[in-house]
Amino acid sequence: MQFQVLKVGLVLALIAGVIWVQPGPQTAEAAAFKPVICGPAGLHSAAASKVIKVADKSGLSDAEIAYLYIQANLFEVETAELGLARGTAADVKSHGEMVARDHKGVVRAFEELIQMNGIKPVSTDAAVNAEKQHSAVMEKLKSKQGAEFDKAYLQHEAGNHRAVINALKTVLIPAAKNDAVVKHMQAMLPAFEHHLAVTLKAAKNAGVKLPG
Ligand SMILES: [Fe+2]
Repeated sequence: MQFQVLKVGLVLALIAGVIWVQPGPQTAEAAAFKPVICGPAGLHSAAASKVIKVADKSGLSDAEIAYLYIQANLFEVETAELGLARGTAADVKSHGEMVARDHKGVVRAFEELIQMNGIKPVSTDAAVNAEKQHSAVMEKLKSKQGAEFDKAYLQHEAGNHRAVINALKTVLIPAAKNDAVVKHMQAMLPAFEHHLAVTLKAAKNAGVKLPG
């Protein structure tokens, strides 16, 4: 049981992308599900990427997985829109525009899918913590300007995309029981991996060193 709790905490830490951005004061209120923001999907590939097959140890229900997945996408939208608005380098602005557009599309498609499959997202304490961690990330990014913002943004985006891809492959997809949910997540992986590749290229162009 203790392992299970630790595992869920790890997943959420990964999803929240807090690997490189230290959490600030936890001032955010409990996570309320945000309104759906719809937009063109703009995804780059529907081909399923190779998924690591591991046994599910998380104990997450499909309802909890759906909440975490939508939450992670909305976090991406929020940071990306900040990148578009505040970024200085052209690479950062175009990155923010692409990532926000794509993840809005993912949320729209996934919400349609879970509605058709009778899955209603359910929050957990861990999801509330993820919201607090995301709020700390946003607070930190908003405190920066110019090249310092670009650097912090690209570092966050690289870490967050790596974390989300890893969480999808090793936890969320293995834990999901609904076939449509699994297929959706597998189909989205190439797009998320494309985002990571674009992030790494933008960081290289900007001379931003990334941990790892
Ligand atoms: Fe992304």
